[in-house]
Amino acid sequence: MVNWPDVRRILCTGGAGFIGSNFVRHLLAVRADVEVVTFDALTYAGSRENLRDLPDEGRHSFALGDITDRAAVERVLDGVDTIVHFAAESHVDRSIASPGAFVHTNVTGTFTLLEAARARAATITRFHHVSTDEVYGTLAPDQPAVTEAAAYAPRSPYAASKAASDHLVRAYATTYGLPITISTCSNNYGPYQFPEKLIPLMIVNGALGKPLPIYGDGRQIRDWLHVEDHCAAIVAILERGAVGETYHVGGGNQPTNLAIVEALCALLDARYPTSPQVPHAQLITFVADRPGHDRRYDLDVGKIERTLGWRPRHQLVDGLRATVAWYAEHGAWLAAIRDSDDFRRWLALNYEERRS
Ligand code: NAD
Ligand code: TYD
Repeated sequence: MVNWPDVRRILCTGGAGFIGSNFVRHLLAVRADVEVVTFDALTYAGSRENLRDLPDEGRHSFALGDITDRAAVERVLDGVDTIVHFAAESHVDRSIASPGAFVHTNVTGTFTLLEAARARAATITRFHHVSTDEVYGTLAPDQPAVTEAAAYAPRSPYAASKAASDHLVRAYATTYGLPITISTCSNNYGPYQFPEKLIPLMIVNGALGKPLPIYGDGRQIRDWLHVEDHCAAIVAILERGAVGETYHVGGGNQPTNLAIVEALCALLDARYPTSPQVPHAQLITFVADRPGHDRRYDLDVGKIERTLGWRPRHQLVDGLRATVAWYAEHGAWLAAIRDSDDFRRWLALNYEERRS
């Protein structure tokens, strides 16, 4: 039974970022009956380039705007019945360097959207919020995967700001009856990921023969989810999810960071066999650890598997191979970021001190 027959116009906040742009592309491809509006402030992490060559572009429009700007939010909500909320400051290391932007966008921005949705109770049929496994904090090696009932224990400014936004979303459901759903997912990877994050940074640095900086001992564990699997999960939740519910979405793997980087090095060796960097693993460099670095995340995804029939389709090593290929084939996209002043400044700020 499809719960989602009325959808006509979907607002994607942060639709010009990594996951948002993949979701816009995916949604246009799998649902011929929807119009999609991307609402994005185009911070350093967002780009119109991420929304090039969409399937059936006539059903997509772009609105430049900030989720903390109530007037702009009001304008873009006209005619919208579903909100899928991706917009956020998303990088833990940046949250350690400059936490204020995270509170502003992730907390105040989500609050502003919720207020606007509450004022349009007659027309907003779903507010879907995209959250992260980081809200649960760190797990010991032998702890079981966390379920949707686990208590929140965020430890970085990023995680704390996302936890705060989750609490607000749930409070609006309980107090005002806002029809919400939440997807809480693990580390995404795949096309269009901004190369400040582990996997694209290692691919880009490896191809250029630059050091591959591993924080601490590299034995931290993440669960890795291909972004297309995440997009399919959100569509399943919009179509068949129960209002008010939270669903965990993860890839079902537990590699260490070092294992991920070694796998990427092997894939780079295979892609560039005559490169002087072979073996790329020689570029691995251990650097100072992230303050408060969470050791391990692991999500129990039994609920979405049982109730909605969603499962991840991508095997990690195949997904990583395809991601290495995507970055190799999108040199101009990458160069625009790599050559930007903001990115250079970020690399200097985050890595120079770590190395010394
Ligand atoms: P991203 O940093 O790649 O993109 C964020 C997008 O939001 C950008 O397009 C940016 O321009 C836009 N944005 C930022 N501030 C804004 C504002 N004030 N108003 C409007 N737009 C704004 O992030 P991502 O990796 O695509 O993450 C998307 C969502 O998924 C976030 O909510 C993040 O917390 C969550 N999430 C991400 C991951 C991951 O592995 N990347 C994992 C779990 C959850
Ligand atoms: P990241 O991609 O920033 O995602 P998150 O912090 O949200 O999990 O980092 C993934 C893991 O990789 C995390 O444990 C930190 C580590 N890491 C490095 O070791 N070196 C790096 O240069 C970066 C960016 C991350």
